[in-house]
Amino acid sequence: MRTTAAITAVQGYLPDFVLSNAVLETMVDTNDAWITERTGIKERRILKGKDQGLSVMAVEAVRGLCAKRGIDVMEIDLLICCTVTADHVFPATANIICDKLGAKNAWGFDLNAACSGFLYGLTTGSQFIETGKYKKVVVVGGDKMSSIIDYTDRATCIIFGDGAGAVLLEPNTEGLGIIDSILRADGSGCQYLHQKAGGSSRPSTARTVENKEHYVYQEGKAVFKFAVTNMADVSAEIMAKNNLKSDDVAWLVPHQANKRIIDATAHRMGLDDSRVMVNIEKFGNTTSGTLPLCLWEWEPRLKKGDNIILSAFGGGFTWGAIFLKWAYNS
Ligand code: UT7
Repeated sequence: MRTTAAITAVQGYLPDFVLSNAVLETMVDTNDAWITERTGIKERRILKGKDQGLSVMAVEAVRGLCAKRGIDVMEIDLLICCTVTADHVFPATANIICDKLGAKNAWGFDLNAACSGFLYGLTTGSQFIETGKYKKVVVVGGDKMSSIIDYTDRATCIIFGDGAGAVLLEPNTEGLGIIDSILRADGSGCQYLHQKAGGSSRPSTARTVENKEHYVYQEGKAVFKFAVTNMADVSAEIMAKNNLKSDDVAWLVPHQANKRIIDATAHRMGLDDSRVMVNIEKFGNTTSGTLPLCLWEWEPRLKKGDNIILSAFGGGFTWGAIFLKWAYNS
């Protein structure tokens, strides 16, 4: 049997500070009923403290991951950090995470595919396992969205939260692990969801700061339309491609951007709520973090051989789906 890449452990990290809808009501012109009805979000976590970047959360997740699997950090061959909120523009946060962990045998890189980052990272990481090049690849998905959110903009500040998750990929010869993936991108979507300044096309100046160009800019309605169609389409497509009927799918792991997008995707796949991972009410949209954080929370309920579909849509635009067979019982 061919060697596949299987997830053999998953670990998440969420900061302690809870930002509830009730508190947001005191900050911007919004209310709990609107946020709950339009997004499904009740609260989100925020990483507080001076000089605390994404790596703080990622290190906790990867350290816990290695402890859980009983491996030394020196065994990690490669670490891929999927994020849009790297500690610095350069160097890569993957390097910082490895340094803080003492993972001296690993190399790594950051991967920016916004909310689809974890799908892109999992697919990329799995290639190094499938070819036999490496035995242990860590894929981190996480974002400190609070670092790029304007807390006077009610259209975006109610949606996003901070958090990170990590998985370990190892070779599998039982036919388990990542079976298939479909990844898509359409750069023309940039206009609807991006950060205007701070990159090489528009470097930071006093003016860009004054104009609030370092925050998330999102045309929510437009993004919603693309997201709801493409996430449902690609999820149905990967099922058809792999001859999966609704009854064959144990779990859908959807990106947590909006409960209405999740519901539309599940409906299209013919899945009822009992087989859909949803924690958006507690953590909001953690961008690259949503998928590993769901897997982490549901890990005790997952069974060896379960057919799982991960699916996401995000800035870029980027979107896609992964079909994997869960490789272990907890
Ligand atoms: O994860 C990356 C990809 N991102 C997504 O998938 C996000 C996709 N978009 C969405 O989830 C939704 O579009 C939002 C949650 C961002 C917004 O929901 P919506 O139902 O599309 O609302 P809208 O922007 O069309 O606004 C509807 C109304 C407007 O008022 P009027 O013009 O109808 O009087 C807004 O001004 O709701 C108003 N509104 C709010 N009201 C209370 C907008 N934000 C708020 C708010 N509280 N926070």
